[in-house]
Amino acid sequence: MSKFSSTLLAAAGGILMLAACSQPAPTPPPAPAAPAQSPVERGQYLVNTSGCHDCHTPFKMGPNGPEPDMARALSGHPESVKISAPPKLPAEWMFAGNVTGTAWAGPWGISYTANLTPDQNTGLGIWTEDMFMKAIREGKHMGTSRPILPPMPWPAYKNMTDDDLKAVFAYLRSIPAISNRVPDAVIAPPPPGPGK
Ligand code: HEC
Repeated sequence: MSKFSSTLLAAAGGILMLAACSQPAPTPPPAPAAPAQSPVERGQYLVNTSGCHDCHTPFKMGPNGPEPDMARALSGHPESVKISAPPKLPAEWMFAGNVTGTAWAGPWGISYTANLTPDQNTGLGIWTEDMFMKAIREGKHMGTSRPILPPMPWPAYKNMTDDDLKAVFAYLRSIPAISNRVPDAVIAPPPPGPGK
């Protein structure tokens, strides 16, 4: 290589380096912050991932077996579906669910899933956020009276944060109101204690 061409190469290299130094790679603009989830959106996410529909939305028979009837989403045990008497179960069985998956018979009696829609007379219409928080946290009907019966998983849901419980309530206020009067629970007498 001639002296001339090697000088040229060195010069070209220097120019390239200079160019590289003077033009730092542009830093990408910061990613836009994810839009904050509203309480209603958070509540919808929690309701859909905590199984509320499994018990509070009546099931109907679909092509692949029983499926939640979303036209009656979260409206509880249908008033038109009457339960005569709890089934007699073989000793190794503890509880039974009815055909809509909304009535449950067990040692506690018969429990019917509540109407969680905001209907004024038959749903959570008159409930306050405070009643809802108390019901879930303390397992008391309407926050103050009799114990909430199985299989309502309040012992699990009571571990939700205040914000999450409030979000669930906010979402339940936002869904379409469905008029459906759920029957009162049938409370079984407590089983005889030992030695009786
Ligand atoms: C495994 C079935 C099951 C699941 C899952 C379930 N529930 Fe329930 N829920 C019930 C039953 C049964 C009752 C009625 C209990 C009773 O009458 O004491 C009930 C009652 C309630 C009540 C009324 C309590 C009261 O004061 O009488 C509320 C509110 C409620 N559920 C909210 C929810 C929410 C919110 C979810 C989801 C995060 C949920 N439930 C998931 C079965 C379930």
